Amino acid sequence: MNLYNARRTNNAKLLNWVDEMATLCKPDEIYWCNGSQTEYDRLCAEMVRSGTLIPLNSAKRPNCFLARSAASDVARVEDRTFVCSRRREDAGPTNNWVDPVEMKRTLRSLFDGAMRGRTMYVVPFSMGPLGSPIAQIGVQLTDSPYAAVNMRIMTRVGQNVLEVLDGSDFVPCLHSVGAPLGRGQTDVPWPSNETKYIVQFPEERAVWSYGSGYGGNALLGKKCFALRIASAMARDEGWLAEHMLILGVESPQGEKTYVAAAFPSACGKTNFAMLIPPAGFDGWKVTTIGEDIAWIKRGKDGRLRAINPEAGCFGVAPGTSRQSNPNAMQMLHQNTIFTNVALTDDGDVWWEGMDGAPPAHAIDWQGNDWTPQSGTKAAHPNSRFTAPSAQCPSLDPAWEDPEGVPISAFIFGGRLSKTFPLVFQALDWSHGVYLGATLGSEATAAAVGQAAIRRDPMAMLPFCGYNMADYWGHWLKIGRGIANAPLIFRVNWFRKGDSGKFIWPGFGQNMRVLKWIVDRVHGRAGAVESPFGHMPRYQDLNWDGFKLDHATFHAIMDINRDEAMREAEDQKTHFALFGDRLPAELELHRMMLAARLSTAPTVWKSPD
Ligand code: OXD
Ligand code: MN
Repeated sequence: MNLYNARRTNNAKLLNWVDEMATLCKPDEIYWCNGSQTEYDRLCAEMVRSGTLIPLNSAKRPNCFLARSAASDVARVEDRTFVCSRRREDAGPTNNWVDPVEMKRTLRSLFDGAMRGRTMYVVPFSMGPLGSPIAQIGVQLTDSPYAAVNMRIMTRVGQNVLEVLDGSDFVPCLHSVGAPLGRGQTDVPWPSNETKYIVQFPEERAVWSYGSGYGGNALLGKKCFALRIASAMARDEGWLAEHMLILGVESPQGEKTYVAAAFPSACGKTNFAMLIPPAGFDGWKVTTIGEDIAWIKRGKDGRLRAINPEAGCFGVAPGTSRQSNPNAMQMLHQNTIFTNVALTDDGDVWWEGMDGAPPAHAIDWQGNDWTPQSGTKAAHPNSRFTAPSAQCPSLDPAWEDPEGVPISAFIFGGRLSKTFPLVFQALDWSHGVYLGATLGSEATAAAVGQAAIRRDPMAMLPFCGYNMADYWGHWLKIGRGIANAPLIFRVNWFRKGDSGKFIWPGFGQNMRVLKWIVDRVHGRAGAVESPFGHMPRYQDLNWDGFKLDHATFHAIMDINRDEAMREAEDQKTHFALFGDRLPAELELHRMMLAARLSTAPTVWKSPD
């Protein structure tokens, strides 16, 4: 085996682990990444030569590339994702579990010789600003140069990480695409779904991922480490690792308030994080700290402080436009890797929902000719962009503050066409935990009848590295350990009217809800107590620059007693899954909701 370059660390655990994994995986070469621009450019150029990357028009998209994955490797694979704690009950009923000893045996045989004929990249990375008391270090070994260059965008990679590592611990993350050597990503016989393994060992704090080159399965700093492993660390060490965006709201007077918000995938998290205030909000600014993950710890000042552990965005492309998210569109102008979007004839990218008319001709995400008449999607619905956060125009000046930013409110939101109002506030912290624990979202908007709701507690269903019921208990404990805990809110941008259309325009107009939340934090906005929680009356929201009549306000805010009762009933089944590990308080909140509803009018309306 060749050592492509010299190893640059004295960390014995790291050196031993790399040796051990190299002996197992048998790569031809080992290359230690230093995170430099020169190295990034060279790896990209090599992938252009091998056909893995296509360079885009350098006048339109400087230093941008397109990658196409195998058609069967386009998304996270929840059925192949495992949390292998020593005891099954510690993984809980919502995670796939296999005994860790047995899983290691399976993985060792898959990884045996998996990197033969190629290079093993050693990627040392920091999740969070280097040296931050909230940051953590990981090292990914991967045989995918695509994963290596994406990791350089998504995390902080480099020699300085190795220097910090000399005196600290790290999370080992082993990754192989498991595909045969020497061809682009498109034409290889990819491992079948059954041979993909995205495995977390929470007690060992380790990740092994085999058989997929796709983002969340292959960029191991993200969902695997920053959520599944980190949530288990956070449980043991008294902090929070959450699937949350972090944004700042600045008033015309310069008052800054930070909030963190959890939404299931594809509910507009990136758009909300980069919101541009609408007409009527002169002088207000929304700034972005992060758009997917928040790590939150009690700071020296006793407040909950959050960092974005990532350094880039791995965002969903379709639907992103100058209209829906101008900041994101500007962020993607350069230094971006696009995956599974369409290629236009002038060497640019396109996806469904981008501004303007579709191109008359393009190459679709699978490399085939495409026209608007093809009847197929040009870009895969889960096609992505990987772009450096530093390019985001709304980036908050404190985004790399090692101490993190103080969080004043948590928001939980789902995609729900009925029952749930636009916004309401929890009655107290533990009620807020209950609101997060019962969060649901519709997989698809059902045309008729009751839409199927997938419960996605705190938007962490696919990402919690331990028993979800214990996780709720952990949330309850965290709130009790701090003075003036953040307020907790639920929002729902997706309620539909009788015509089946969304009532609320969303996007920039969500600022009206955000301002009410900020005003509640500072004790200056009105509310009334509804069966769900504290709700704004019409006059409690700012309607400058946007006229929403009272009737429409009620259509989006009123509580239909029978629908809400059905929801309270349905939550019983959800809670029953967790048996006696369910914190008793949560069931009591459910019963309190049912009790409040039992004396509510058929349609509860806020008074004027
Ligand atoms: C993501 C997801 O990619 O939540 O962020 O799926
Ligand atoms: Mn996400």
